[in-house]
Amino acid sequence: MAVTIKTPEEIELMRTAGRLAAEVLEMIEPHVIPGVSTGELDRICHDYIINVQQAIPAPLNYNGFPKSICTSPNYVICHGIPSDTQRLKQGDIINIDITVIKDGFHGDTSKMFLVGEVPPHAEKLVKITQECLYKAIDIVRPGTTLGDIGNIIQQYAESNHYSVVREYCGHGIGRIFHEEPQVLHYGTPKTGMVIEEGMTFTIEPMINAGTRHTKLSRKDGWTVTTRDRRLSAQWEHTLAVTADGCDVLTRRKEEQF
Ligand code: MF3
Ligand code: CO
Ligand code: CO
Repeated sequence: MAVTIKTPEEIELMRTAGRLAAEVLEMIEPHVIPGVSTGELDRICHDYIINVQQAIPAPLNYNGFPKSICTSPNYVICHGIPSDTQRLKQGDIINIDITVIKDGFHGDTSKMFLVGEVPPHAEKLVKITQECLYKAIDIVRPGTTLGDIGNIIQQYAESNHYSVVREYCGHGIGRIFHEEPQVLHYGTPKTGMVIEEGMTFTIEPMINAGTRHTKLSRKDGWTVTTRDRRLSAQWEHTLAVTADGCDVLTRRKEEQF
């Protein structure tokens, strides 16, 4: 399957799915406190998505994933599995990644939460990673290339002495969770696919404090960690390309755009 260009009607359905995913992140925020388990966070999100939003949590049973959200604390890069025995503690940073399906379309978004007071180096990683996403969003318009997006993220991360994870990337999204194109978070300006109006895709940079190298858990087959066990951060939005820029379909109230 090649890249799909969405009709205005399809974009409206994507907008609804994106808004719901963003609202789950807003809903869960007061629960992300010292002592809560990631299993509890999963149950709260699952019940909200099913009962309040009347939507579907896309991760559940996706390629065998066992839970409804991904929870990735500290040196977990992505795809962390919520667990009743994993409790958050003061000073942790954690990514919560929400994907919902509503009326057949996906909305995919994640953000970092600070658990109580967090060391300055951790807070800085979280902030720079968010800025990587925002700088990329800023240049999304027809004519921009995927290489331009990767490059702006890589330049900003590396100029702050961080590294960019290469094994996982953003993706086209719509009726299918992960569709073409792959949106790499590193690259060369003016290379790669040219962005067109009507494309919908995610940008979701994973930025490491240490080296870029990753390790996939042999135990659960999902959890991706940094090899050096230093911190990693990630932020994600789902975007729709317009005639002169993009709409951030998963924008939260606290965000401008
Ligand atoms: N939400 C993730 C992404 O941004 C994918 C999670 S797949 C899962 O693409 F199976 F781990 F849930
Ligand atoms: Co995604
Ligand atoms: Co996601």
